[in-house]
Order: sequence, then C-alpha cells, then structure tokens
Amino acid sequence: MTKRGYFDQFGGAYIPEILQATFKEVEKTFDSAKNDPGFWQEYLDIMSTYSCRPTPLTFAENLTAHFGGARIYVKREDLNHTGAHKANNVMGQGLLVRRMGKTRVIAETGAGQHGVATATMAAKFGFDCTIYMGEVDVERQRPNVFWMEQLGAEVVPVRNGTRILKDAMNEAFRDWATSMDNTHYVLGTACGAHPFPEMVTWFQSIIGTEAREQILAAEGKLPARVYACVGGGSNALGLFSGFLDDPVELVGVEAGGRGLDSGAHASRLASADASIGISQGYKTFFLQDDDGQMKETHSVAAGLDYVGVSPILAALSRQRRARFAAATDREVIDALSLTMKKEGIIPALESAHAFVQAFKEAPDLGPADSIIINQSGRGDKDIFTIADAFNDPSWKQFIIETAERYHA
Ligand SMILES: Cc1ncc(COP(=O)(O)O)c(C=O)c1O
Repeated sequence: MTKRGYFDQFGGAYIPEILQATFKEVEKTFDSAKNDPGFWQEYLDIMSTYSCRPTPLTFAENLTAHFGGARIYVKREDLNHTGAHKANNVMGQGLLVRRMGKTRVIAETGAGQHGVATATMAAKFGFDCTIYMGEVDVERQRPNVFWMEQLGAEVVPVRNGTRILKDAMNEAFRDWATSMDNTHYVLGTACGAHPFPEMVTWFQSIIGTEAREQILAAEGKLPARVYACVGGGSNALGLFSGFLDDPVELVGVEAGGRGLDSGAHASRLASADASIGISQGYKTFFLQDDDGQMKETHSVAAGLDYVGVSPILAALSRQRRARFAAATDREVIDALSLTMKKEGIIPALESAHAFVQAFKEAPDLGPADSIIINQSGRGDKDIFTIADAFNDPSWKQFIIETAERYHA
C-alpha cells in the first residue's frame, strides 16, 4: 500500500521543519472532519444555502444536434456563488479554519476566481484575508482584483519570478511560515504538500457525486466519457471522483497555449515537455529545465497557467486511468464562441479547454452515449481577454471612451 499522502510515487510533504506542526494540525482537523458525519452535513447546508448546490446538469441539446454524436451534458459549476468550482473548496476549508480557531486566511490566485472565493468566504466567516497574485495576473484579471479588495481582502501583487501563479504560491508559503499561529493557507487546488491534494479533492468530490446521480436520472446509464480542464487539477478531480470506480473514460484537458511545439504552453501530462521533480512541497510532473528551474508557461486562461499538476492526476495518468489532451488558445476561443451561440452559456476560458476536446470527440460516439463536460466557471471575468480575441470594434471604442473620461 502506498504511504498516506502519496499517489504511487507522486505527492508527499516536502516542507521546511518550521511548517511541519502546522501541516500536522491541518491534517488532524481534516481527519476529524472526515470522520464526523455532522461536518459533511454542515458543509452541504452552507453549500446549498450560501452557494447554489446542487448545481444543475444541463443537456446541451443544440450542441448535441450540431455535432451529431454523443449526447452532451454540461455540469454547471459556473452557477456556484462567486462563479466557479473554487467555492466548493474554499467554503470547506473555511469550516476547518473555524474548527482550528484561526482568524486569518491567505491564498494564492491565478485567474482570481480562487482569490474572490477566498475573500468571500473570509467576509462571511469574519476572517482577515490576504491574497497573493502574480503581477501579470493582476493586470489580466483586474475585475477580480477589484472585487477581492471590495470584499475586504488585501491583494498583494507578486513581482518575483515570472509573476504568475507559481510565484504567488511561493509568496503565500513565505507568509505562512511566519504567521501560522493565527493563519491558515487556503490552497486553491489539489496540489502542494499533503494533506492539500487529498483534502481539496474531498471537497471538490461533491461535483462528481452530484453529476453521477444526475446523469443516471437523466439517461438511465453512466456516461461514456467525462471531460474537465486541468490547471492544478481540482475541478477535474472533483468530477472524476464520482466515476473512478466506473467504466467511464476520464479526460483531462490542459493548456496547449500557442501549440505544444511552440514551447509556449502549460501542458504537463499531455506533452512530453514535463519531467518528475519536487517543488512547492510535493513531487509531480513539472515544466522545468535540466537544473530543476521552472520554465515559463503560457495560456490564454490564467487559471491553467501553472508549472505543476496534482500528484493524484499524475498517478492516474501513469496508471492510464485518465488520459490527457491539450487545447490551444485559438481552439479555446472558437469553442467558447460556439457554446455561447448554440447554448447561451458563457464558459470561463479555463473551462472552454474541456469543451474543445469534447467537441473533437463527440462525433466519434453515437446518440446512445452521453458525455459530461465540467463547466468549472463562468466567462464573465474574461470579458477583456475574450473581447480582445474577438477583436470587437465597439468594445474597443467603449474602452477608449472610458479611458478618455478618466483622463478628462
Ligand atoms: C474557472 C476555473 N476553472 C479551472 C481552473 C483551474 O483550476 P483547477 O485545475 O484546480 O480546477 C481555475 C483556476 O483558477 C478557474 O478559475
């Protein structure tokens, strides 16, 4: 049997001695919550009264007709409070913070969704809140920065390294090493040292549990395949958790950026560019050079722009239980446009990666089969990037006029 915290050879807790006691405290609190049926009920109560659980499973009838293959369903994590699956993890960790008696939370964020979700949770539970965000992401996700600040959080732009998600994570760890007495680090994905991959997956498993029940009610049988985008891996693991023991194909879709041959991507499991290493407290596939220095990554979707990947997904990939593909920035914009026009729903740029691969494969299956795409978040936050990609002249005019008003 693999040691707790390891998934085959991946995972572990490679942390400095100073943080050992804190990680043990988090593990102990997590274990006691897991063994307490009252905790899961408390979690379900807050997710149904404060967020929107259960989120619907929408039959995408127009996309199904368009592709003429499998029946396409969309799991609507975009309908969570704060607009993404991030709420599932954040509210769960918030309940644990209360159990630990701590008063301050910190978090890293890429797209800003996890930051907004954490700032929201902190406001609701009355915690102080600091969010670390790479300077590049601060620039491309300005609306989320605005909301985090209005919700009462301090947003710290990180100017080290490549100024994106991994640098924000490093900075959050630095903070935690000096503040652990009163502070909990709300890690936003199923990465990092044990117990975070297991704990975040547990909270996100609510996606798969619901989706399995919903598809059985709708179709009377399991789906052929389920699709999710992969940044750190939390929404994918959430969906996959519901189908791990079933004969259902699990498909993760990473950021193919400008193409896998371009080097400008963030694909760790679908490309041959990543190698096994240890960083940020855990062992997994990283996009790194021969000296273990992290490479620059690129994606149109800030939330997928990360050098590592969940150790649980790394193990599932090695075991061939899940397979991984990559979607390019261009393909993502096209899939997003089609989904809006056909179904009237706006996926986040991150989620649109899953749509790309599902669209490629749906025609290979027949109408007796169904597939589920996890819509991890809503695209409203991406209006600047999407409008740029569509090159919309009236939007440009609006931005210019707004800027002129500020200068006047
Ligand atoms: C909407 C959305 N989807 C997906 C992700 C990727 O994270 P994960 O792979 O942990 O689900 C993010 C991360 O910020 C996100 O905001």
